[in-house]
Amino acid sequence: MPRPRTIKPFIPLRISGVGAYLPPKLLTNDDLAQFLDTSDEWIRTRTGIRTRHILSPEEVPAEMGIRAAEKALAMAKRNPADIEFLLVATNMPEEPIPGTAPYIAQGLGLEKTPFADITAGCAGFVYALALAGALIQTGVVGKALVIGTEALSRFVNWQDRATCVLFGDGAGAVVVEAAPGPAGILGVALRGDATKLDLLRIEAGGVRLPASAETVRTGKHFLQMEGKGLFRAAVRMMAEATRAAAVQAGLRLTDIDWVIPHQANLRIIEALVKRLRLPPEKVVVNIDRVANTSTASIPIALEELVRDGKVESGQILALTAFGAGACYGTVILRW
Ligand code: ACO
Repeated sequence: MPRPRTIKPFIPLRISGVGAYLPPKLLTNDDLAQFLDTSDEWIRTRTGIRTRHILSPEEVPAEMGIRAAEKALAMAKRNPADIEFLLVATNMPEEPIPGTAPYIAQGLGLEKTPFADITAGCAGFVYALALAGALIQTGVVGKALVIGTEALSRFVNWQDRATCVLFGDGAGAVVVEAAPGPAGILGVALRGDATKLDLLRIEAGGVRLPASAETVRTGKHFLQMEGKGLFRAAVRMMAEATRAAAVQAGLRLTDIDWVIPHQANLRIIEALVKRLRLPPEKVVVNIDRVANTSTASIPIALEELVRDGKVESGQILALTAFGAGACYGTVILRW
């Protein structure tokens, strides 16, 4: 059997820049216990979360995305004008029409660049990265900016201890460029299971249930979650997608140097580690500090890994996520 590292990427590309932004306001578990029937001990032991960053009322997710993108562009030594496609993964648009991507394009000065929002739950960044790869592979674009930005703090019920303690706000961005060579996407497994649609929803505010005094009165604009069902599904989904992406890449799981899972719950990550028999030291965890930042979770963790100088050229990374829909998937790439 050939050594896995000699396998050519099926999409030769380079992540030339990574950036992240976390809003300065920090909310600790003890802060939450001031107004909720909860405790630092419960939140830490059930989720692994200690702190989360919260967007101030004056800021919007597009601004977080712009700041993350500026850092990614600076690392890539690229100007906004070099970008040929902007993909923004987010669950809650800046406005229902026109979404978030045009606000980010405007803020970055991308006046003629095509852009699109991608909604695929918390798997949105993985989906968007795979789509950017496909656009690069087919020659449609040569350089893309992929952003995940999220402020779920705006959509949780701060009286509902079962959901509000879990989320944090933030953004992450990558510049992806066509680059012949050994780096690139080795395997992609995107999956969906719409039978799990009811596990995570915001019922009101769309066309199915437009906003009304009644929807506000009954709290239907808040995130509703079936935590236990999601927990079980999450572990199975990320494991299945990671195995499938590894098979497509012609790799063994032991060939993977870094696994970056969606940061939804430390116990979910630990169960994934067990199911895939991964060495825990290869699995990136920052949920303790940033909580679940949804579409921003993977690029924020990736940025930390890169900034800490831990990723070496030639290493193999698996990015895996699950979320509302249920959408899930894994992208395996060689750095
Ligand atoms: N503080 C104290 N007690 C709490 C809290 C809290 N913050 N939240 C719930 N409890 C209580 C419950 O009321 C319940 O009390 P009861 O036994 O008297 O009824 C008890 O704790 C146990 O609750 P469970 O729901 O059984 O707790 P569980 O161990 O399942 O943990 C959790 C709940 C953390 C939500 C877990 O199920 C989970 O992480 N699920 C997955 C969540 C997830 O992945 N969400 C996002 C997915 S998609 C995306 O990322 C946007």
